[in-house]
Amino acid sequence: MEQKRLSLRGRNVLALADFSAEEIRLILDTAKEMKNIIHRDIKKVPTLRGKSIVTLFYEPSTRTRTSFELAGKYLGADVVNITAGSSSIVKGESLRDTLYTIEAMGVDAIVMRHKAEGAAEYASRVVSPVILNAGDGAHAHPSQALLNLFTIEENKGRLEGLKVAILGDVLHSRVARSDIQAMRKMGMEVHIAGPKTLLPRFLYQEPGVVVHERIEEAIQDADVIEVLRIQLERMKGGLFPTTREYARIFGLNPERLKLAKDDVLVLHPGPMNKGWEISPFVAYGDNSAIQEEVQNGVAIRMALYTLVLTGGKQA
Ligand code: NCD
Repeated sequence: MEQKRLSLRGRNVLALADFSAEEIRLILDTAKEMKNIIHRDIKKVPTLRGKSIVTLFYEPSTRTRTSFELAGKYLGADVVNITAGSSSIVKGESLRDTLYTIEAMGVDAIVMRHKAEGAAEYASRVVSPVILNAGDGAHAHPSQALLNLFTIEENKGRLEGLKVAILGDVLHSRVARSDIQAMRKMGMEVHIAGPKTLLPRFLYQEPGVVVHERIEEAIQDADVIEVLRIQLERMKGGLFPTTREYARIFGLNPERLKLAKDDVLVLHPGPMNKGWEISPFVAYGDNSAIQEEVQNGVAIRMALYTLVLTGGKQA
């Protein structure tokens, strides 16, 4: 039977709400092929030869920015990085003018991180290059959720039916929002726990999401635990006890880990506050896939570029 081939060519990657389960499946399968390239001696293929990509980061980043850069370079694209502190942004240039400037240079894709929710969507409306959202405020971080799914599937062999516990500062976490959307679409069971002050109201109405008072309940028999970073830089005060108290009540330590399945997979998007939300014994322990997430981030970003800039293999 002739099947219509899915194509993501020309698609902006703003939030996973815009992507179907089939499209997410296509991205994960493409990333699997891409991961082989990272393990080669010569990590260079011509898929994106002649394409140019700009990463435009208004907020700090280590993993996300570097992996978007390397992903483009492994695929043969030219990649230029702009960070707020070392560009005309410090002279007060507006986001719109910065985007126009990048567009005028003939760029094919812009990877963007910004503190304002909706910034990537705004960019997609004012300029023509494909926009990949690398995090907009607390709204979305689609490539991080995709690399989480990839890491889970690689370790567990499936996504459907798995129980995942997401712990901590959901209020400020774009990763958690993208995770919830993606995990639900792929048939996972999502449990959340954290201090009440850091759990946004929407969670209580979110279909398929169970919110717990105590993290022990969320962790019970979990297949996957994702610990979120406490985002002190986004807190206006009053939301947070002390780091010691947080670690005592909400931190993931070896004792609590025992409540989950023996082969539970531990994720954290990084950077970690070790000793606060996660104990170093857990972060570097046998169940941790935190380093794998970083490597898989490169594969996922290679897949996204390939699909949105070329439409995939047969293009
Ligand atoms: C996350 C982010 O920036 O949203 N980090 C990341 O991209 N690896 C999470 C965080 O900063 O806590």
